Amino acid sequence: MKNQQLVLAERPDGIPGPQHFSSVTTDIELTPPEGHIAVKNLYLSIDPAMRGWVSLEQNYLPPVAIGEVMRSITVARVVDSNHPDFAEGDFVYGMFGWQEYCVADASFMVRKLDPELAPVSTALGALGPSGLTAYFALYEKGQIKSGDTVVISTAAGGVGSIAGQIAKLTGCTTIGLTGSDDKVNLCTEEFGYDHAINYKTCGDIEVAIKALAPNGVNVFFDSTSGAIADAVYPCMALHGRAIQVGTAAIDSWIPTPTGPRRDRYILTNRLNVSGFVILDHMGKYPEALTQLASWYTEGKLNYKESVIDGLENAPLALAQLYEGVNLGKQLIRLAD
Ligand SMILES: NC(=O)c1ccc[n+]([C@@H]2O[C@H](COP(=O)([O-])OP(=O)(O)OC[C@H]3O[C@@H](n4cnc5c(N)ncnc54)[C@H](OP(=O)(O)O)[C@@H]3O)[C@@H](O)[C@H]2O)c1
Repeated sequence: MKNQQLVLAERPDGIPGPQHFSSVTTDIELTPPEGHIAVKNLYLSIDPAMRGWVSLEQNYLPPVAIGEVMRSITVARVVDSNHPDFAEGDFVYGMFGWQEYCVADASFMVRKLDPELAPVSTALGALGPSGLTAYFALYEKGQIKSGDTVVISTAAGGVGSIAGQIAKLTGCTTIGLTGSDDKVNLCTEEFGYDHAINYKTCGDIEVAIKALAPNGVNVFFDSTSGAIADAVYPCMALHGRAIQVGTAAIDSWIPTPTGPRRDRYILTNRLNVSGFVILDHMGKYPEALTQLASWYTEGKLNYKESVIDGLENAPLALAQLYEGVNLGKQLIRLAD
């Protein structure tokens, strides 16, 4: 069997794009050894985390090697199984990479999906890493509670769209920060935000937030760092919690970027600033997925996907994440 793959050809200096990946076709034997499954990828997830994965900068996973298939979580269909928990035809979630087919160890991060519960693509978004990130960052790190004012950056994206809804379902006042008027409307009309700010056109972001949060921001869900975070820290309330979920606004960490000092706000307002990585919460995924699925089936969780067809378009879709082109979770579809 022929297997089209996208491999890392060159390490980007900044934002990754099509010039950094090569398409190769290899032969693959779809006969899994014991404990393994052979799968055909249906959907690939396009994640801001990928910029870190292809970089040599400090990270929580080792860098993808030059010539290696690009790391990616995907939704796939089992074409052959040599593992008792999986059968041909099952839909699965796993780390199967930017390629058509994969033979993988079924005990490593593979989860069977129920196509009756929701479209299987949601396992890459609302009922997968995006939803889990929103859930654990808000509850475990942010300790959100009813009455809190919560500010969320990348508010209309895969993670932000779910984070806004979870905070709202918990009784918080929610303020989303996003990069276009269309996304502002999406935030307030579909993702339940009380307020949304177009950070590109609002003028002084700090002034705009203070007008909406006169008593201060209790929880800051920070997916961008950079100028947006610089504007939010002076708005934080006493004993506020800031969660570093991502750094989408920083093109490169080499050399280390400089900016305004936050230390005085952290000290005087006794802020609790914490870093978040979803992998630390794996043991509790089932509990969170049950809650997310229940909100979804009750119609309380809206989600949106930006879907582009074709494996070859994955690098372009990745680059476009940094232009804010996506509305909701960005996916590549290889097959249904
Ligand atoms: N720590 C974890 O375990 C974990 C897990 C999953 C995701 N994350 C993080 O969560 C964040 C959102 O991820 P996602 O998958 O849901 O992506 P996403 O929000 O769907 O897409 C990325 C968004 O980032 C915004 N953006 C891009 N460049 C920006 C810049 N220079 N300044 C400000 N905003 C910029 C754009 O939205 P606008 O048009 O609104 O600017 C873009 O749509 C990312 O930072 C990601 O790394 C963290």
